[in-house]
Amino acid sequence: MKILLTGGTGYIGSHTAVELIKLGHDVEIMDNLFNSKITVLDKIAEITGVKPKFYQVDLLDVNGMDKMFAEGGYDLVIHFAGLKAVGESVEKPLLYYKNNVGGTINLLECMKKHNVKKIIFSSSATVYGEQGVTEMTEDMQTGVGITNPYGETKFMIEEILKDVAKAEPDFEAVILRYFNPVGAHESGLLGEDPNDIPNNLMPIIMKVSLGEIPELSVYGDDYDTVDGTGMRDYIHVVDLARGHVAAMNKMNPGVSIYNLGTGRATSVLEMVAAFERASGEKLPYKIAPRRPGDLAKICANPTKAEKELGWKTELDIEDAMRDTIRYLKNVKKK
Ligand code: WQD
Repeated sequence: MKILLTGGTGYIGSHTAVELIKLGHDVEIMDNLFNSKITVLDKIAEITGVKPKFYQVDLLDVNGMDKMFAEGGYDLVIHFAGLKAVGESVEKPLLYYKNNVGGTINLLECMKKHNVKKIIFSSSATVYGEQGVTEMTEDMQTGVGITNPYGETKFMIEEILKDVAKAEPDFEAVILRYFNPVGAHESGLLGEDPNDIPNNLMPIIMKVSLGEIPELSVYGDDYDTVDGTGMRDYIHVVDLARGHVAAMNKMNPGVSIYNLGTGRATSVLEMVAAFERASGEKLPYKIAPRRPGDLAKICANPTKAEKELGWKTELDIEDAMRDTIRYLKNVKKK
């Protein structure tokens, strides 16, 4: 198939590009390079032997997207592009609503104009909000208790896709709710490398390991969890990429929704210990106050994806830490 990846030079997009190219698909990438680097294209080429065609286009550049779709002849769009810094979204809500929601509306209008009827959307477990339960299934309510505009934009886009599917019977959408992506490609050539100041645990651990940040602040150790620190469902980015391939092979008219996670929760201190085992070095950290909006524990119930897509995670935290360390040594010259 001919597939457009919006945000395809990003962390998850680039790993998905590799998996799709390895399967022989014709992949093109659109990205504004706000939070990724164009050199990722060379890394994809080094891994796969194929350098995807690239368009430096922003979701708000309607003319640029129109020109790209006119040339493209895409069968499917996998939509990764979007701003994703939870804290920044609280400070700059209009930026997030305009870019993520407005940009997605631009994309959907462009798809309609150019008769592209299939989309896979990069959503997030954050749409579940706080529900007092820790294992999430796809039938649970969404949009209630979301603590930040970033999460709201993911929820709104899910609702937009559902309404478009109601209006257009031949529209096919898959919503993939990611939990916490971690790890790097086994080649050591691709990994999480944000341009902006990271919010997420693993890129911060990486910067502490590189000495760019003096120590990790562990946000709270008084939660009702195994060791008092927050617990999340950390999914290896290559498993996540393969989840997109599995979803692509099972698309139908309407909207299908799947959690992409391991089904297991790991605490912050367990992640620190796993990183130390992989690196052979102590990671400096201190206990800090809880971060507003954080949940104590959340993980996926991934059985629907396993049953309907024939997909489940195969890699674990140890694999993710080993691959992250290799990436750090290779690309970051640690
Ligand atoms: C994980 C755990 C923190 C940083 C968010 C979004 C989600 C998705 C992933 C984008 C928590 C703790 C973190 C630090 C810490 N979006 N932590 N010190 O908040 O679960 O999910 O990012 O890709 O939609 O909601 O991820 O990595 O920020 O936090 O102790 O410096 O690590 O308290 O328990 P989160 P996270």
